[in-house]
Amino acid sequence: MKLAVEFARDDFHDPDFSATLMAWQKQHGRHTLPWQNTRDAYLVWLSEIMLQQTQVSAVIGYYQRFLTRFPDLASLAAAPVEDVMAQWSGLGYYTRARNLHKCAQRVVAEYGGVFPSDPLLLADLPGIGRSTAAAIAAFSSGRRAAIMDGNVKRVLARVYGVDTYPGERKTEEMMWRRAEALLPEQGIEAYTQGLMDMGATLCTRSKPDCARCPMQPRCVAYNTGRTAELPVRKPKKASPEKHAIMLLIIDGGAVLLEQRPPSGIWGGLLSLPELAGHVAAPDDDSDESKDANAVADDELLRAVAPFCKMESYERLNTVTHMFTHYKLHIAPYRITLAQRHMMAAQAAYVWLPLAQLGEAALPAPIKKLLLELAGSN
Ligand code: ADE
Repeated sequence: MKLAVEFARDDFHDPDFSATLMAWQKQHGRHTLPWQNTRDAYLVWLSEIMLQQTQVSAVIGYYQRFLTRFPDLASLAAAPVEDVMAQWSGLGYYTRARNLHKCAQRVVAEYGGVFPSDPLLLADLPGIGRSTAAAIAAFSSGRRAAIMDGNVKRVLARVYGVDTYPGERKTEEMMWRRAEALLPEQGIEAYTQGLMDMGATLCTRSKPDCARCPMQPRCVAYNTGRTAELPVRKPKKASPEKHAIMLLIIDGGAVLLEQRPPSGIWGGLLSLPELAGHVAAPDDDSDESKDANAVADDELLRAVAPFCKMESYERLNTVTHMFTHYKLHIAPYRITLAQRHMMAAQAAYVWLPLAQLGEAALPAPIKKLLLELAGSN
């Protein structure tokens, strides 16, 4: 097992990546952010927590005000949590503030007020994940540890042409192994900052500035014209599919409609009557010999019996409507009548003149289907 890991690391070994990145960072990276040029773990930790879900430009003011109120770890640990929340107010993701306070108290209680330098110990503290632990350890102690946030995933996915979704477990594990294999022997601070800077300023999600990028000659995404496709976006979940069989009974220029129950889809709207309790199988285009939405004749006869005497019917083409969370396949059955029955008092049913379709309260796909049908007649 150990051998396999070492082989994998060898596969990802690429010292030119860190050398190129660090040279670029020294010349073009950010060097004067308020939390830079210090090894004070309290300052580094605070900045990394604030920067977890918030952009640099929004963090700067909060960072400075927070430090005026809580200049060191001891003052933060001793403060009531309400004061910490008040200072955080407006920055969002408030679990960060609660964890920040808990973390300060644990560092005081367990480490005598001095942050550990081991990323594994840091990652055991509240609010500090593996990547944040690595950033704190790198900036405050020069420890070699890999960071992995959205920016880093984007840079690595593009430079190395990773064409699977980075949020998926296997790809993410591979990216961590790659990120660890790429760490330089020396200069972890410039390297870590360089990755952050490149992701934030050059290798942005949209319109990356490839012309200025030092990785351009070796970037797989650039060289294969795939900067817009990489990193691969989260695959959309296939939406569930539902099926309905609807009766299209038109007689004397009017269509039979049913008012839907007040709750559920299309609540209270007029719609085509549906074949009750009928869950049709999906259409199967690959086998034309059978119609998966077929309905037995006697079933149709029974369904239309209250309204008319049926002469014949025709299965029209399926209409598919996309809801936000599912697809509805509507199989319309057009009924030709021998005779319309006088309807018993069934308040839910109306014969709507086709000429009034435009103004009636019908669901959009049903109205569309009927208007197309009325237009073609
Ligand atoms: N994002 C996360 N950590 C950062 C840092 N130290 N500097 C700039 N952006 C960051």
